[in-house]
Amino acid sequence: MGIRITPSVLNANLADLGHEIARIPSADAVHLDVMDNRFVPNLTFGLPMVECIRATTTQMLDIHLMIAEVDRWAPGYAEAGAESVTFHIEASDAPVKLARELRSLGARASMALRPATAIEPYAELLPEVDMVLLMTVEPGFGGQSFLDLVLPKIRRTRALLDACGGDIWLQVDGGVSAQTIERCAEAGADTFVAGSAVYSAADPDAVVRALKAQAEAAIS
Ligand code: DX5
Ligand code: ZN
Repeated sequence: MGIRITPSVLNANLADLGHEIARIPSADAVHLDVMDNRFVPNLTFGLPMVECIRATTTQMLDIHLMIAEVDRWAPGYAEAGAESVTFHIEASDAPVKLARELRSLGARASMALRPATAIEPYAELLPEVDMVLLMTVEPGFGGQSFLDLVLPKIRRTRALLDACGGDIWLQVDGGVSAQTIERCAEAGADTFVAGSAVYSAADPDAVVRALKAQAEAAIS
């Protein structure tokens, strides 16, 4: 199982994202949090910004859509050249159709679950996606405390993914840091979003490398 660190730039300097992304060359992808003040009580940026970021970096772009009416908006991010597009299952009216559309546009399709959303009702959808994102905080803000109550769901999701076969990534997002990443890795996560833990450091890339080494050691 490969370990991937996908830092969120939510707590970076949003006025200088090109430079902020260039500071994390060891990242496996750049995680971009799109919020609409409807699905979550916060507002960040949308497609025009992602298109500009696409033009400034060759890093894999991992788009996390925390928006309502996601079926309408998500395909545009794939068309803009994002390699991975994550929609919240709670916001999608037709997740199978949406996942297939994202894949047909050349992107990895990914579904996200809020902390209180169970994975079991969506077990049949797993072959339709390339990644499952389990939120380990309530979505909307960086810098929140990791919710340990999600750990059993990480374990159950890992078991479902193993039974499913293939190479579906399992990402965790929220409160991931040196204090919590080992618990997530041991529970079966392989892809880690870290926002404030990376960008609050003087050397963000060193934190990316350290988190990766820590997760790899936890599962070795
Ligand atoms: C929160 C976002 C996260 C956030 C993580 O809703 O989806 O990606 O940036 O930030 P930290 O790592 O600080 O919890
Ligand atoms: Zn996110």
